[in-house]
Amino acid sequence: MPDLTALGPDFVWGSATSAYQIEGAIDVDGRLPSIWDTFCDQPGAIDNGDSGEVACDSYHRWPEDIALLKQLGVDAYRFSVAWPRVIPAGSGAVNAAGLDYYDRLVDGLLAEGIKPFLTLYHWDLPQALQNLGGWASRDTAYRFAEYATVVGERLGDRVHDWVTLNEPLCSAWIGHWEGRMAPGITDPATAVRASYHLLLAHGLGVQALRAAVPDASVGLVVNLSPVEPASESAEDVRAAQLADGHINRWWLDPVNGRGFPADMVGQYGVELPERPGDADIIAAPTDFVGLNYYFRQIVKADETVPVLGFSQVDGPNSERTMLDWEVHPAGLEELLLRLTKEYGAEKIYVTENGSAWVDAPDETFFVTDEPRARYLEQHIAACARAVEQGAPLAGYFAWSLLDNFEWAYGYAPRFGLAYVDYPTGTRVMKTSGLRYASLIEAHRA
Ligand code: NOJ
Repeated sequence: MPDLTALGPDFVWGSATSAYQIEGAIDVDGRLPSIWDTFCDQPGAIDNGDSGEVACDSYHRWPEDIALLKQLGVDAYRFSVAWPRVIPAGSGAVNAAGLDYYDRLVDGLLAEGIKPFLTLYHWDLPQALQNLGGWASRDTAYRFAEYATVVGERLGDRVHDWVTLNEPLCSAWIGHWEGRMAPGITDPATAVRASYHLLLAHGLGVQALRAAVPDASVGLVVNLSPVEPASESAEDVRAAQLADGHINRWWLDPVNGRGFPADMVGQYGVELPERPGDADIIAAPTDFVGLNYYFRQIVKADETVPVLGFSQVDGPNSERTMLDWEVHPAGLEELLLRLTKEYGAEKIYVTENGSAWVDAPDETFFVTDEPRARYLEQHIAACARAVEQGAPLAGYFAWSLLDNFEWAYGYAPRFGLAYVDYPTGTRVMKTSGLRYASLIEAHRA
């Protein structure tokens, strides 16, 4: 058990999920397709032909999810609202039945003393907006602000903690540059425009939430990676600077009022769709930074990679998760300290951290997942070390509460603290979940 004395008594323990990954019920109660429904229909887009059509069926089984949260003993649950349930066509008519679902969920959480941490956008853009250009279109940012207002007005009397966007890097770079995620576009210039409009949407979303929910605590969730050069050669050092720009600074600099990094604007060679006043909107003051951490990146110069000119090499740690992600807890400590020292962060939550392993359930669906339990403890220990060195870390959310739809990888990678038997929907807490519960209890004692 890691030494947790550095984490104060108000430290928030939580777990996280997202709508498309767990809800299922894609055509129930007025929901219309999102870009992920469309993407999943494309042959070869998702491993094994999987989709979020049923997922964990949390749309119907959410009371069981709350029971799992109770079993963990967490203070908070980070979940996302599906825009295509609430405003199915992306703009215009509000779907009362869709909002009612989140109303029930929030009330259910509060009845058990669990704080809702609500993410507005975890990648499920209404397809109708994609048909009008999606994130490549400036208009989508304004539609997002309207959606934020609708959700804020309905749930803001009970939800205090809000996230605008989850991991805009994935929406922009993976969804529009690499094409491995919805909407499956492979055009760097479109990706850069999408990244810009996503950050604009974040800023407009902050404004909308402040108006609708005066005492809201609002933040952006970014996925960051420490970047190291593969060698000390000038080429690799330059590659690492670019990778840091692409992965970290592109998101952190503009929201911290520093503008988009000039070296990256030059590298991308794309004119930003800037208008007067945008920079201030994007830099709207927030109440916390949400950090999702999974791995570091070690990079080398690579002329074969267009536009960017770098590629990733394997890290030296022999322990790797099922997705071949290097286990490197020190990277989390490093990022927390960087946010503190370089960006002056005043409050940080680790909004996601977790690992996928090949789980072997017994006949009762019980999973003994020592590697996941160890991963969790090592990363929480890294959090405690960062706090000792001054990082204003206020909470930690384990990804994920339960096994779920891991995007283009389908259902094979399991990140859950609880196992899900997909054919029946049965949930069973794993060893890692039980260990997390003991750790939380020990910290409270
Ligand atoms: C971050 C994403 O927010 C989440 O949706 C995903 O499942 C995890 N990373 C694991 O890849």
